[in-house]
Amino acid sequence: MNLISFKDLTGQQLREIIDEAVEVKHNAEKYRTALDSESLAMIFQKSSTRTRVSFEVAMTQLGGHALYIDWRTTNFAIASVHDETQYLSRNVDCIMARLKKNADLQVMAKASRVPVINGCDEKYHPTQAIADLMTMKEKKGALKEVKLVYMGIHNNVCNSLIEGCTKTGVKITAVTPIFNEPSRDEELLENARKTGLYETTLDVKQAVEDADFVYTDTWVDMEFFLDPKYALEKEKRVKLMMPYQVNRELLKESDAYIMHDMPIHRGYEISQDIIESPKSVIYEQSENRLYSAKAILLKLLEKF
Ligand code: CP
Repeated sequence: MNLISFKDLTGQQLREIIDEAVEVKHNAEKYRTALDSESLAMIFQKSSTRTRVSFEVAMTQLGGHALYIDWRTTNFAIASVHDETQYLSRNVDCIMARLKKNADLQVMAKASRVPVINGCDEKYHPTQAIADLMTMKEKKGALKEVKLVYMGIHNNVCNSLIEGCTKTGVKITAVTPIFNEPSRDEELLENARKTGLYETTLDVKQAVEDADFVYTDTWVDMEFFLDPKYALEKEKRVKLMMPYQVNRELLKESDAYIMHDMPIHRGYEISQDIIESPKSVIYEQSENRLYSAKAILLKLLEKF
């Protein structure tokens, strides 16, 4: 079993992973040797703080071992993904990869003898969405009928939230005036629409009115954030997106929890003053990356 997106997971399987994440959070000692002698290869073609740290610490705390592999320092950079994965999957028990292209991840998943986890590509970020759903469940006690508003650019994080929410009974409203074309997955959106749990609007006030959670993410993908060639597009996006900033004015009549997958760009997608407000669960959400990483590894390595 791989975790590339939630396409091949049933709602029940997804709920089981979320419940396992809560269970390991409160019973860490019970799982100290669960992955004894097992190794996870973590391959990064892009930068990361949370995905790298959470999976590496998860492996240590489960009694296993994680190898951090920078794509540029390996022969993945000069050989075929298929061949390098054929080798890699003969020496480790699981692979987690953050690649630029989902197409390369699909090649990796096909070539691998061991489970492959998507650590975020241009289309999906499933490990983040599991931590998000776990955080929502902790706050509300259940996921069914909970209402999440995603405010920002339609991107990989948005796709995985839509897929994860609609599979677990969460109503999701996307307020996304810009669509990151590389993230487009019409099949995912069509399946989500069929559930009746996914809608879109550009009416920000109405969207947040009865929201339980308001979620935002960067307006510029990580690989372009500091790229001078992207400066003009960044400026255009900031101008267009400013009315969609998550801030105190927007939420003045709302009791919603505030979510962000981090890294945060203060003063852009979210205002400085609400990041640490009493309704913000952003840092708890990021902490939950660790427990959800453990649950994902335990599931894919068939420990529950
Ligand atoms: N949210 C997230 O994936 O964080 P990193 O990019 O730091 O891994």
